[in-house]
Amino acid sequence: MQEVWNAKFQSKERLYGYAPNNFIKDNFELIAQAKTVMCLGEGEGRNAIYLAEKGLEIEALDASDVALFKLRKWAKEYYLDIKIRHTLIQYWTPTPTYDAVVCTYLHLFKKDQKMLFEKALLALHVGGIFIAELFSESQINFSSGGPKNIALLYDFNDILDMVKSLPCEVLKLSQEVIFLDEGTSHQGKGSVIRVILKKKQIAI
Ligand SMILES: C[S@@+](CC[C@H](N)C(=O)[O-])C[C@H]1O[C@@H](n2cnc3c(N)ncnc32)[C@H](O)[C@@H]1O
Repeated sequence: MQEVWNAKFQSKERLYGYAPNNFIKDNFELIAQAKTVMCLGEGEGRNAIYLAEKGLEIEALDASDVALFKLRKWAKEYYLDIKIRHTLIQYWTPTPTYDAVVCTYLHLFKKDQKMLFEKALLALHVGGIFIAELFSESQINFSSGGPKNIALLYDFNDILDMVKSLPCEVLKLSQEVIFLDEGTSHQGKGSVIRVILKKKQIAI
């Protein structure tokens, strides 16, 4: 897995461009007051750089050391201090540390998809916000990027079921066809699932 992503990130260019993901950008106000933010599966760092430039304290987790090396270099060029965590999300043990968690296009196998939501919520303080944009299973019918393996795509109803069992308020959960213009790797019409969750106090 790491080798696959490392190979993809070899080029000097940014696979998903330099601009932050639109969904993250459009919802920035929701996390503007956050002090600490974790970016999951952050790759070359387009969201991390954007959020760090806004003055937030950022940590970026990713499986690819090649992507994280590019992120670190980019951050240095902009005099930004971004914490790096090189690991698979499967090996990460989150504690309530962050005010926000963001995640764009982290392609996980079905068996690990619930873990993404569980860990994101575990990582948040109560009241913290999780924002994610993921390719839906319908993306298999589009050629704008993403895995060509349905096992790595997300099903809307699965996510609906997953979030029901988690300590969160659902601020948004939708499946949408959008126009992607993100670097060379996401171009054209695509089907995404957009999620915004707010962590609730766990009832004891
Ligand atoms: C499609 S790229 C998206 C990168 C970034 N989020 C963006 O939108 O620009 C997927 C990223 O997830 C990382 N990744 C894939 N599986 C992972 C895992 N199990 N744990 C941590 N990172 C993973 C890859 O290394 C890659 O950087």
